[in-house]
Amino acid sequence: MAEPRAARKKSKQGREERVRVLITGDRIQKRIRALATEIRKDFPEERLHLVSVLKGGVFFLTDLARSIPGEVSFDFIAVASYGQNTHSSGQVRLTRDLDSSIEGQTVIVVEDILDTGMTLQYLLRLFHQRKPKHLRVAVLLDKVGRRLAPVHADYVGFTIPNEFVVGYGLDYSERYRNLPYVGVLTLRSGEKVRK
Ligand code: IMP
Ligand code: MG
Repeated sequence: MAEPRAARKKSKQGREERVRVLITGDRIQKRIRALATEIRKDFPEERLHLVSVLKGGVFFLTDLARSIPGEVSFDFIAVASYGQNTHSSGQVRLTRDLDSSIEGQTVIVVEDILDTGMTLQYLLRLFHQRKPKHLRVAVLLDKVGRRLAPVHADYVGFTIPNEFVVGYGLDYSERYRNLPYVGVLTLRSGEKVRK
């Protein structure tokens, strides 16, 4: 499928934003199929319970779930960060809990991006207390250079540079999530985009 090389848009504030394609939709789909095979190989017999973090991880979860052969179930959790510079201060709070218990289950946490690692660190601590049989982490994107918390992802789609990205679930003020590709968002003013 032909994809636009870049998209331009004016935000409500009138600033011009530009999205440069970093990873095409085709590459994303191919990589997810490979990850699905790898995950199933590691757990050939078990039911896999995928737990995704709303909202950014949703497309990754739905594509991954459909690519994993055998028994798969899934659930969702949502978190919010509070205070200023929230991610680096690690103030994460649960806003929506899982529907069902994960005790004794083989759980794969499915996240859009691993950045500072504060969100996943919080979630992994929480899930660990609930005694799953196995607890693994799958992230589509890994910004290795930004890590503050020592979080390790077992399955990584792509390692990316320290740039603000949108698309395929990732947003900038709730926009751009629906792009089928991942792109780098820049402001024409040259101002750095922050989450
Ligand atoms: P962490 O707690 O710093 O690892 O941040 C994880 C969350 O921050 C992700 O689930 C995203 O919602 C958000 N995030 C981090 N980097 C980006 C980005 O480049 N674009 C959009 N959202 C991001
Ligand atoms: Mg997110």
